[in-house]
Amino acid sequence: MSEWTINSWRQKPVLQVPTYPDQKALEEVEGRLTSFPPLVFAGEADDLKSQLADVANGKAFLLQGGDCAESFAEHGADHIRDFFRVFLQMSLVLTHGSSMPVVKVGRIAGQFAKPRSADFETIDGVELPSYRGDIVNSIGFDEKSRIPDPRRMLMAYRQSAATLNLLRAFATGGYANLERAHEWTVGFLKDSDAYSSYKEVVEKIDDSISFMKAMGISAENTQQLRETKFYTSHEALLLGYEEALTRKDSISGDYYATSGHMLWIGDRTRQPDGAHVEYFSGIKNPIGIKCGPSISDEDLLVLLDKLNPKNEAGRITLIARFGDGNVESHLPRLIEVVKKSGHKVVWTCDPMHGNTIKASSGFKTRPFEKVLGEVKSFFKIHREMGTYAGGVHVEMTGSDVTECVGGVSMVTEDDLSSRYHTHCDPRLNASQSLELAFLIAKEIATS
Ligand code: PEP
Ligand code: CO
Repeated sequence: MSEWTINSWRQKPVLQVPTYPDQKALEEVEGRLTSFPPLVFAGEADDLKSQLADVANGKAFLLQGGDCAESFAEHGADHIRDFFRVFLQMSLVLTHGSSMPVVKVGRIAGQFAKPRSADFETIDGVELPSYRGDIVNSIGFDEKSRIPDPRRMLMAYRQSAATLNLLRAFATGGYANLERAHEWTVGFLKDSDAYSSYKEVVEKIDDSISFMKAMGISAENTQQLRETKFYTSHEALLLGYEEALTRKDSISGDYYATSGHMLWIGDRTRQPDGAHVEYFSGIKNPIGIKCGPSISDEDLLVLLDKLNPKNEAGRITLIARFGDGNVESHLPRLIEVVKKSGHKVVWTCDPMHGNTIKASSGFKTRPFEKVLGEVKSFFKIHREMGTYAGGVHVEMTGSDVTECVGGVSMVTEDDLSSRYHTHCDPRLNASQSLELAFLIAKEIATS
């Protein structure tokens, strides 16, 4: 076996890479990125790994979520705040329902590159290269927009840095203070059932806080009440960008991706001998592997051995994404394989990517019922097999979009066109996200 280096992935077959017309510009940009400051530190990635080890051991729950694709257009403070607020609400509901710590990982501050099923897109007889995420090309349907431009990597880096900066401020600067949980409300949620259930949870938490205050424990003297830990993650698809942001930790001598705390390998790029798996095998961050219906038992085993040879708990999160109605045919066989191998993993459920349909209007959507259905099956199977359902991975936003149909907010197929803003897959809106959190809390309570 040849030795891993920061660029050994370049010797392997690579899928889903853009063809840049200007190679010199590409090399220049990658060169500049190698001199930029890291976005995250090795120590933070290690902290997350140890929290994920708690999840692997059934002592914590993982909530991972955010945009399908971040965009340069949707990069305002309000967008980030609204997302963070709903994420905190969901975490609160889950912590309260499970009496366990919730490990918070956003699909944010780096989630820009998208794998595509087809290299070309045809509209009204016009064929153009597919949109591959704002880090590669532009979503506009014209020839110029779809040309991969390496300078977009610099923009993605800068946007990630600014987003992370605000998230760090929210997490530690007072916004996430538990005493302010009733302030994390969003106007348009006020009439929904999920909102009144949320208020009930907050009232109970307020009672506990008053009790703790009487005992001398308050946000002023207790960091855990005042602050939260929030981590970032994305699909490490664009390996040139990832390589440029990979750094050797001066303390341990190990290599870490510094573009985000946790990276995952997509369902389309997890070939055991491919470039993506090669890259991931040499970095020490916690990593995710998307597992769709096409993953074979053999491949999963090879991946686990290759990516986690020391069987370190917290290193691997398996993100199951089969689709409602398909979970029973695949999850039990994979659980069996992992059990037999003795590998320690976090099992998490992505109920989004196997449940995408095309509405008659042409919009891609996801029926909320199917999302709930897949989550329920995931919990049921783990209950039956005696394994721990450790988390969920969702595409969500804090905005009041109309992208997934159903839920208490009653988004219908006719509503899709009114606020359909996603740059890729349909996301749960704030109300649907909160509703899902309540369902998960119930599932955990009965596990
Ligand atoms: C995604 O998470 O946006 C994605 C493309 O997922 P998958 O690799 O599971 O298809
Ligand atoms: Co997606």
